[in-house]
Amino acid sequence: MTDLPQTSPRPGSAILGLGAYEPSRVISNQQMCQWIDSSDEWIRQRTGIVERRWAEPEETLLAMTAAASRRALDQAGTTPDQIDGIIVATVTHLEQTPALAVRLAGELGCAPCPAWDISAACAGFCHALAQADALIRAGVLEHVLVVAGDRLSDLTDLTDRSTAFLFADGAGAAVVGPSDGPRIGPVVWGSDPSQGHTIGQTLDWRQAVERSQPAYLRMDGQPVFRWATTAMAEVTRRILADSGLTAEQLDFFVPHQANNRITDSMLRHLRLPQSVQVARSIQRLGNTSASSIPLAIDQLYRAGQVADGATCLMVGFGAGLVYAGQVVILPGRPAGDDRPLVLADPAPTTPVPDLTLNP
Ligand code: UT7
Repeated sequence: MTDLPQTSPRPGSAILGLGAYEPSRVISNQQMCQWIDSSDEWIRQRTGIVERRWAEPEETLLAMTAAASRRALDQAGTTPDQIDGIIVATVTHLEQTPALAVRLAGELGCAPCPAWDISAACAGFCHALAQADALIRAGVLEHVLVVAGDRLSDLTDLTDRSTAFLFADGAGAAVVGPSDGPRIGPVVWGSDPSQGHTIGQTLDWRQAVERSQPAYLRMDGQPVFRWATTAMAEVTRRILADSGLTAEQLDFFVPHQANNRITDSMLRHLRLPQSVQVARSIQRLGNTSASSIPLAIDQLYRAGQVADGATCLMVGFGAGLVYAGQVVILPGRPAGDDRPLVLADPAPTTPVPDLTLNP
């Protein structure tokens, strides 16, 4: 049998540039309480959220992802025509087809290139990054734009006190390209279909049309919380072990910004050294689904905390339920990036009891 030609593998891939976009409309907890029976104190204590950002009408998903992508391209020093693949992670692109990634290719002026969307909810950025890394190392693609964006406010029922205070909007992007050695660690990923019922839509699109009713996101928060606080610490341990680094060699821990109490619980299990900085961007940005990890990293850049070569452990988890994470080595802050960082008031959270880890 004749062998077919193969692409030539590369020694590694790296994140060459990162960018993010925070929408302009700030919604405080007090404003949120016009719509739901809740309080600033309850939201702060249960989640750590002080305020969140929602997109204005002109801040479409395409506009937000394009803005984040342009910042990532600038930091990488890469032009749109050098991009030969685009992966967009989103669950709020409200057209079934064409993919947002193809629209984004046109918006950015990329040369005709493969462009596709993935649905991995809040773990979308880490899933897309793993795909880009594998495709670049296999020699299939050279420069991949990894994008994560969601406008959860489009699918949030403002009268639903189990979700309205949590969900928010935003976008993030990374340019991934070849490097001399691996700068993106092995991905640890998986799914738990037995928990699939916990997050979803109130109606599927067909039911929404037939009943002339809007479809919203719905979540049964408690089981998701229990799953995240038990299973995700173990997943994080595996990500670190597979990276070959020790906890002492980590600079940043960036878990999906779902709830500060989930982060606190993971930290109690992981016992990371004090030197590891932990992302807490949920305070100002709420839960922005796929974009929460790149938005959190962007805050670290804007605080001037990221040196070239910093190590960062990321882990995303969400609807499916699905999870994915890896350790990455971050590029330095680009010259001239002096965007200010505005920090919210510290948000106290109530302690949760330690839970036994799943075997
Ligand atoms: O990003 C994708 C993955 N998603 C997540 O990881 C989210 C995971 N889940 C969570 O973060 C939490 O479950 C929530 C923040 C959504 C909810 O917090 P909780 O501590 O699990 O609240 P709960 O549902 O157990 O409710 C506790 C109490 C109840 O009152 P009683 O029965 O103790 O009197 C609720 O009725 O809080 C009440 N409550 C509220 N009170 C004020 C529920 N929602 C609210 C509210 N405001 N919005």
